[in-house]
Amino acid sequence: MTALWPSIDPTFVRDVETRTPIRFRHGLAGHPLLTLDEIARLAEEMPPASLSAEPAEKPIAAGDAADVAESTDDIGRRIRDVAVNRSWFTLLHVHQVPRYRALVDEVLDGLAEASGMDPADLTRRMGFLFASSPRGVTAAHFDIEHSFCMQLQGTRTLGFGRFADEEEKKREIERYWNGSFGRFHEQPETIAEHVISPGTGCYIPPYTPHWIVNGEETSLSMTVTFFNRDNETESLVQAFNTKFAKTGITPKPFGESPSRDRVKVGAMKAWAAVRRGAAR
Ligand SMILES: [Fe+2]
Repeated sequence: MTALWPSIDPTFVRDVETRTPIRFRHGLAGHPLLTLDEIARLAEEMPPASLSAEPAEKPIAAGDAADVAESTDDIGRRIRDVAVNRSWFTLLHVHQVPRYRALVDEVLDGLAEASGMDPADLTRRMGFLFASSPRGVTAAHFDIEHSFCMQLQGTRTLGFGRFADEEEKKREIERYWNGSFGRFHEQPETIAEHVISPGTGCYIPPYTPHWIVNGEETSLSMTVTFFNRDNETESLVQAFNTKFAKTGITPKPFGESPSRDRVKVGAMKAWAAVRRGAAR
């Protein structure tokens, strides 16, 4: 029997270090919490702020045009009708619901054990569910998390690209921290394409351009994400640099000075602690 979590082995640690996308098998397709009806029921339970609805069909490089939010009223019925209503639904942060939190933990603890990683190093664990109509498109973007995209129903093509050069990467990361959500205005050069169907999926490394195109069927998928020390440090330095750049001084990009990066991470953690204290 296939385990629920991605079928990876200790060589995966190297893929994480080198940020190399891989395709894998998993056992989540057919899970009782992940049928179309259960996903619709979950959406009815979740707060509106954790739901999003968009038109399914859009250009791969939609840029800000990808952000065409629709109302999430009557979300359960609309998810059940996803085969015909040309829509794309996201359930954000499903780990806020305990039975899905347990599923996210089962997947991440399982893959940590299979790869020899310490489960405690997989932090800021999150889960997302997606339901989209035939021919739906996930526009080209990058994320800052380590992501496991696991296909539950329907077949899709997941494309991976690369930044044209370091300048473009720097520019897109700045845009990300200023609210672009990592979306590209132009499709990045394709470096790999993987067809994913129920029971298969892909590891999407942080800061890796990617996009997904549905086939002629409804698509259901689950994405589980985490941070480790590597991308946690990188994201904290970038968040610091974005704040600092607003003073008019250009800070050193992440990775150019490890000692400065450590100071920036310390400053961001202290700032977060002060904010937590102020919020009490
Ligand atoms: Fe993504």
